[in-house]
Amino acid sequence: MQAVQFDRFGPPEVLGVRSAPEPHAGPGQVRIAVRASGVAPVDLALRAGTSPSRDSLPLPHIPGVDAAGVVDEVGEGAEGCAPGDEVFGVVDAARLGGASAQFAVLAFWAAKPAALSWEEAGAAGTGVETATRALDVLGVRDGTDPTLLIDGATGGVGSIVVQLAVARGARVVATGRPGSEEFLTGLGATPVPYGPGLAERVRALGVARVDLALDVAGAGSLGELVALTGGPGSVVTLADFTGPGAGVRLSTGRIGGQPDGRHGLAVAAALAEKGLFHVPVQAVFPAVRAADAHAAAATGPRRGKTVLDLTALAPGAPR
Ligand SMILES: NC(=O)c1ccc[n+]([C@@H]2O[C@H](COP(=O)([O-])OP(=O)(O)OC[C@H]3O[C@@H](n4cnc5c(N)ncnc54)[C@H](OP(=O)(O)O)[C@@H]3O)[C@@H](O)[C@H]2O)c1
Repeated sequence: MQAVQFDRFGPPEVLGVRSAPEPHAGPGQVRIAVRASGVAPVDLALRAGTSPSRDSLPLPHIPGVDAAGVVDEVGEGAEGCAPGDEVFGVVDAARLGGASAQFAVLAFWAAKPAALSWEEAGAAGTGVETATRALDVLGVRDGTDPTLLIDGATGGVGSIVVQLAVARGARVVATGRPGSEEFLTGLGATPVPYGPGLAERVRALGVARVDLALDVAGAGSLGELVALTGGPGSVVTLADFTGPGAGVRLSTGRIGGQPDGRHGLAVAAALAEKGLFHVPVQAVFPAVRAADAHAAAATGPRRGKTVLDLTALAPGAPR
């Protein structure tokens, strides 16, 4: 098969489309003919060689953790789908990638709703899983109506978590750089500029109280988030590894035994069908321009996801 891959660590230019062995669905997995795959920060770090997984990563490596496509192989015991089904989901975490290819193996998935384009669905998987997990850990659920502050809300994860929090009944205050106000309002949030002095600016909005806070950006705001909510127990971070030292919970997808947020994929799909959820897509690049896609995904201002269109790798496949 054809795949976007790199055989040495380095800048985006190390990426190219080359042939690779086809993967096959293991037990409980499905293989898809990939239509689109989002670019995530983990893909950039693995390619650059700055990820802690660098030493154990087999090269050449195919990046991409999220994908949408058409099922063409169903692994033993994988239930609820059949060849020909249109799905979106997340690759097997042990592979650390593999989605930006003609075929990819998904560890969990949901039916692709007609309301999401291939590009949106291909970019949704880890954002939805992560957002769902973070909201579960924070205890944001229907009927509790908390005010939730989300720091770092315009990127791939933030733009999804805002919408899923609103769908659970939260009042969301969301941070972005100046100029992102309309984007954040469109997601259902009250916007506030990010950066030092955040607590003061949130208080100046006239928000009576902030019950909970989620740090998506890992940009050093935990002290202000704790001050706003009244304690570290009301704050969760996705990206600041100093959090646990200050009593703030760090949620990652790789800590064994913690429940994950995969159940959120079907929830997001159902919300999309009702017009209550979309995946902001900042830019779409064909596979042959994967280097440009990685460069774009590393550059602010972020407005949702950068996506690779992989249809040209599978000539003749149904669109
Ligand atoms: N723990 C987990 O399970 C998990 C899962 C997925 C991702 N992550 C991590 O979560 C982080 C966000 O992922 P992503 O996909 O959303 O990345 P992204 O698309 O690159 O978005 C990053 C966001 O952070 C904002 N930002 C930049 N500087 C900031 C600052 N000083 N204060 C507040 N916000 C700031 C950016 O805004 P501008 O572009 O306007 O500057 C943008 O909205 C990454 O570190 C990623 O590795 C963790």
